[in-house]
Amino acid sequence: MNEIEVGKYWNNNAHTWTILSRAGYDIYRDYLNTPSFFEILPDIKGKKGIDIGCGEGHNTRLLADQGAIVEAIDIAPLFIENAKALEKEHPLGINYSLASATHLPFQNQTFDFATSFMCLMDIPDQEMVLKEVFRVLKSGGFFQFSIEHPCFKTPHLKKVKTLAGKTYAFEIGGYFSETNGKIEEWIFGDAPTGTKHKFSKFKVPNFHKTLSFWMNSIIKSGFSIEQVLEPYPGGNILRDKPSMHGASIVAYFLHIRCRKPQKF
Ligand SMILES: C[S@@+](CC[C@H](N)C(=O)[O-])C[C@H]1O[C@@H](n2cnc3c(N)ncnc32)[C@H](O)[C@@H]1O
Repeated sequence: MNEIEVGKYWNNNAHTWTILSRAGYDIYRDYLNTPSFFEILPDIKGKKGIDIGCGEGHNTRLLADQGAIVEAIDIAPLFIENAKALEKEHPLGINYSLASATHLPFQNQTFDFATSFMCLMDIPDQEMVLKEVFRVLKSGGFFQFSIEHPCFKTPHLKKVKTLAGKTYAFEIGGYFSETNGKIEEWIFGDAPTGTKHKFSKFKVPNFHKTLSFWMNSIIKSGFSIEQVLEPYPGGNILRDKPSMHGASIVAYFLHIRCRKPQKF
């Protein structure tokens, strides 16, 4: 599957995604991924950054809240429209554009930093994205991104439960089989049943790669890896959101910060 087709799937997801995530049902984003990502994010006050695969703009706005000057791109027109509408209502100085992560419409050495929240595993040519980000970053700039964990979000994945129905492990397989746009259908599980029934499920094309693919691609593009994080929900989060229990058994997500060398 190519990225144009991927973009069409995401554009079809954008309406429901925007409504449900803005209503607070993307709990893995709001309770786990975003707080963990910002905990390890270097100081970006006054820095110029680009957010890649910005969706409806929630995390982009948090970057701007930290005092950064932010550009953002996404391949789905409806996401860009929704993000722009919120920017118009509550301006933070963010400039949103419709573009693909594989062809960033910016000159070499434009940005001090780049971010991407849960987007890169959705792109067919992930090496091209790393190359593009490297190109648009200034020397010494960093790229911090989060993805589904390649070791635990595998093509075959099944919860293993006790007789009482509590998940205590995962059956994992197909790790070495790359997927090329395998469609996964789901909707935010925390949304009330009545709400979920009003919408169609998301259809998300997935491009699974191994951990060594990710590490070697980062190294090959010229970056050095600076920090790695596998966030998991602690007791406080699980008390509020017990449905996130599975994410405390294996790592659902992988966050990486890498840096373009100073002399480049
Ligand atoms: C899981 S959503 C994450 C959205 C947002 N970053 C967030 O954290 O809420 C993945 C996003 O990647 C975008 N995307 C997929 N392929 C892309 C590409 N080639 N270039 C730019 N964005 C892309 C989708 O349109 C979607 O908005």
